[in-house]
Amino acid sequence: MKQKINIRLSLIALVAILITTIGITFVYYSMFQRQVRDDLKQNARLLVETDVFQKAYTEGKENADSLEHLSSGNLRITWIDEDGTVLFDNDTDITGLSNHIDRPEIQEAFETGEGDSIRRSDTMNMNTFYYALLLENGTVLRVSTQARTITNVLITALPVIIGIVVVTLIGCVLIGHLLTRQLMKPLELMAENLDDVGTPAYKELEPFADKIRSQHENILAAAKSRQDFTANVSHELKTPITAISGYAELIENNMVDEENQVHVAQQIRHNADRLLSIVNDTIQLSELDHFEIKRSFETVDLFAVAKECVNDLKPQADKKQIIIKCSGTSAGINADRALIREMIDNLLQNAIRYNKEKGKVEVEVSIKNSHPELTVEDTGIGIPADQLDRVFERFYRVDKSRSRETGGTGLGLAIVKHIVELHSGEIKITSTIGEGTRVLVRF
Ligand SMILES: Nc1ncnc2c1ncn2[C@@H]1O[C@H](COP(=O)(O)OP(=O)(O)O)[C@@H](O)[C@H]1O
Ligand SMILES: [Mg+2]
Repeated sequence: MKQKINIRLSLIALVAILITTIGITFVYYSMFQRQVRDDLKQNARLLVETDVFQKAYTEGKENADSLEHLSSGNLRITWIDEDGTVLFDNDTDITGLSNHIDRPEIQEAFETGEGDSIRRSDTMNMNTFYYALLLENGTVLRVSTQARTITNVLITALPVIIGIVVVTLIGCVLIGHLLTRQLMKPLELMAENLDDVGTPAYKELEPFADKIRSQHENILAAAKSRQDFTANVSHELKTPITAISGYAELIENNMVDEENQVHVAQQIRHNADRLLSIVNDTIQLSELDHFEIKRSFETVDLFAVAKECVNDLKPQADKKQIIIKCSGTSAGINADRALIREMIDNLLQNAIRYNKEKGKVEVEVSIKNSHPELTVEDTGIGIPADQLDRVFERFYRVDKSRSRETGGTGLGLAIVKHIVELHSGEIKITSTIGEGTRVLVRF
């Protein structure tokens, strides 16, 4: 970035210098041209007034040679007759000179009284400026001088221009260096303290800082939740493994008599099942976390799936003499069938698990405002109001031992929430302690 700013700054300076130089040269040169022309004009008028010229003028063209006495400096003086013949020239022998009638300044002088023109000289990079003045007797007095061309002016100025360019470029690099250092300092400071960006030095950087801050917080939160999850999983796995290991040790030491054998085997199986449930739910959750996994979305009838789930869980409900009912209408949703099954199954399991003996579970499917809805209502123990939000957290359980006894893992509602979100739905849970719980899922 620093290098970029330096290069750009130098480029801008370079272009500015070039444009200014060329512009100034043009303006200066046109002023210079005008000056040369004005000088020539004045010289011509002064010449006419001189005694020497007046003498030659009155004595006749034949005596033009007397003009030799005119001191001229680098001014070339030419006197031309009405027919274009050169009567006198202080620079060249007139016998070798051609008729001047076709010269533009002479023609112009004959027509309008005065004329001027500029012609390229034989000398390199020089121009000859001419001024012709028509005199009263019909002859023309022409004065001319050589002056530098614009390229000549530019070439002469080149060392100065190069000098200015070099000095400016050095200045630009220095200023650019200082400027970028000043500019970059807050950015570098920010990069050093990413987790505590504070209020940045530049207002423009605030959204950037906010974004970094929130991303940083998200990353930390995600890392923390992963850590917590791993710790929780390990902890949850430990209990059944310890139990299995304990029972195995009893058998190993011949401490289980015949009548207890079945009980011990049941305990081992129960704990192994528990392990399996935890592992299965963990896998399910981690799969749901991966959004890139391809899911087979199709039109699924929510009501049909709900009925299947109710039928599957009837034996479980019967054990607690719970009446489980399913009512409503067909409602098609675009969904992953297996996931929807998993979701309803989890909700029904909870409704049975946290119900009272001889309780009731009602499942209803309906369409409200063209949104398919599923409600699962039970007459169970209910959830305390202050814990309603937390039940969706991984491993969160209101009553740990009750959940464990009944085979819960604490991951069910977390899985349900994930599935609902994956289908762009929303889930609401309402509950009254001792009366029951109602879960509403809207697609
Ligand atoms: N229908 C319900 N009635 C009462 N409590 C419930 C109900 N559903 C869930 N809960 C509470 O929310 C907790 C989390 O539920 P969940 O994530 O399914 O885990 P699990 O059922 O495996 O314990 C449960 O342990 C229970 O305390
Ligand atoms: Mg559950």
